[in-house]
Amino acid sequence: MKRKLVIDVDTGVDDAQAIMVALAAPNVEVLGITCCHGNTPLDNVCKNALRILKVCKRLDIPVYRGCSEPLLGRKIHAGDFHGKDGLGDAPDPDAPGLELMQKEGAVEAMIRMVKENPGEVSLVATAPLTNLAMAVKLDPSFPEKLRGVYIMGGNTDSRGNTTVCGEFNFVADPEAAYIVLNRYSCPTYIASWEFSCKNSLPWSFCDAWLAQNTDKARFMERIFSHTMKMVQTARYQKELVSGAGFTSCDTYAMAAAIDDTFVTESEQVAVTVELEGTYTRGMMVLDHLELLKKQHKAIIMKTVDLEKFKKMLMDSLK
Ligand code: BDR
Ligand code: CA
Repeated sequence: MKRKLVIDVDTGVDDAQAIMVALAAPNVEVLGITCCHGNTPLDNVCKNALRILKVCKRLDIPVYRGCSEPLLGRKIHAGDFHGKDGLGDAPDPDAPGLELMQKEGAVEAMIRMVKENPGEVSLVATAPLTNLAMAVKLDPSFPEKLRGVYIMGGNTDSRGNTTVCGEFNFVADPEAAYIVLNRYSCPTYIASWEFSCKNSLPWSFCDAWLAQNTDKARFMERIFSHTMKMVQTARYQKELVSGAGFTSCDTYAMAAAIDDTFVTESEQVAVTVELEGTYTRGMMVLDHLELLKKQHKAIIMKTVDLEKFKKMLMDSLK
C-alpha cells in the first residue's frame, strides 16, 4: 500500500524540491498540498505549488489555501533568500492561475483528509506551523489520527538563520510552533536547521543533479539560481553551520516521511518553544533534564542516509 502524505508548504525553493521528491517516490500518494504564509505571501505560495504540479504533470493533486498570517506575531517573508515570488523571481508566463485552487480551506481539508484515512496519513510540514496549530484547535483529536508529523523547523544549538537564535519556520509563527510541539501526540520527527546544515551535500552533487537533461532539471536550475548565488555570499556563509554545502532543508523532513530507514541516528527528547525571550523568541527548547515533565518526546533527527537522499533528489528531476 502506498504511503499517504499531506504536505503543508510555504513554497519557496526547498519546499519545491521536497514536493518534487514526494511526487517522484513510487511508494507515495500525495493526498493534497496545503499552503501557508511564509517564504512569500500566501498567493505566491499557492501559485508556486500549482506551478510545480504543472511541471511534474500532476495538476490532479488538490491544492488548498491556508493561513495568510501568523497567529499572533508579525508577518515575515524570506524574499531575499528564495526570491520575492518565492521561486527565484524567474516567472513562467504560462504558469497556472489561482482559479485552480480548491474552494475548501487548507485547515478544513487537512482535518477531512486525515479523518478519511485514520492512522494512515503522514503530515509533512515545511512551512510556519500556523495551519497545523489551527487544525488541532478546530479538531483536538486531529494529531492522534495521524501516522506521524515530519517537521522542518527549529534549532538544537541555539543557532539561528533568521534571528540570533531562531530558525525561519519557528520564528515566522512561534505561537503556532509552541501549540504543535505541545499538542501533537503522534510520532513527531524534527529536521532542525543545524541538522540540515550538518547533513548538507557537496555542491558537486548539486551540479550533477541540475545537469540532468530534463525539463524538470531545467526548471529547477531556473528557480534555484537566485538562492544558489545568495548562499555563496558572506552573510549566508555566516548563517550556515561551518562546512555546509547544498542544504535542501525541507527535503530532509520529506525523505524521513517517505522512507523509515532514512534516519540513521536520532534523539528522543521533549521539546517546546520560547515565546518571550528578547533574543530567543521562536527558539526551540530541548528538555534534556526532563524538567518540563512532558510524556511526549520528539524524534530529533541527527544523521541520515545521504546516499538514499541523493537518489531521491536525482529521481525527482528525471
Ligand atoms: C526553512 O525556512 C524556509 O525559508 C525554508 O523553506 C525552510 O522551510 C529553513 O529555515
Ligand atoms: Ca519551507
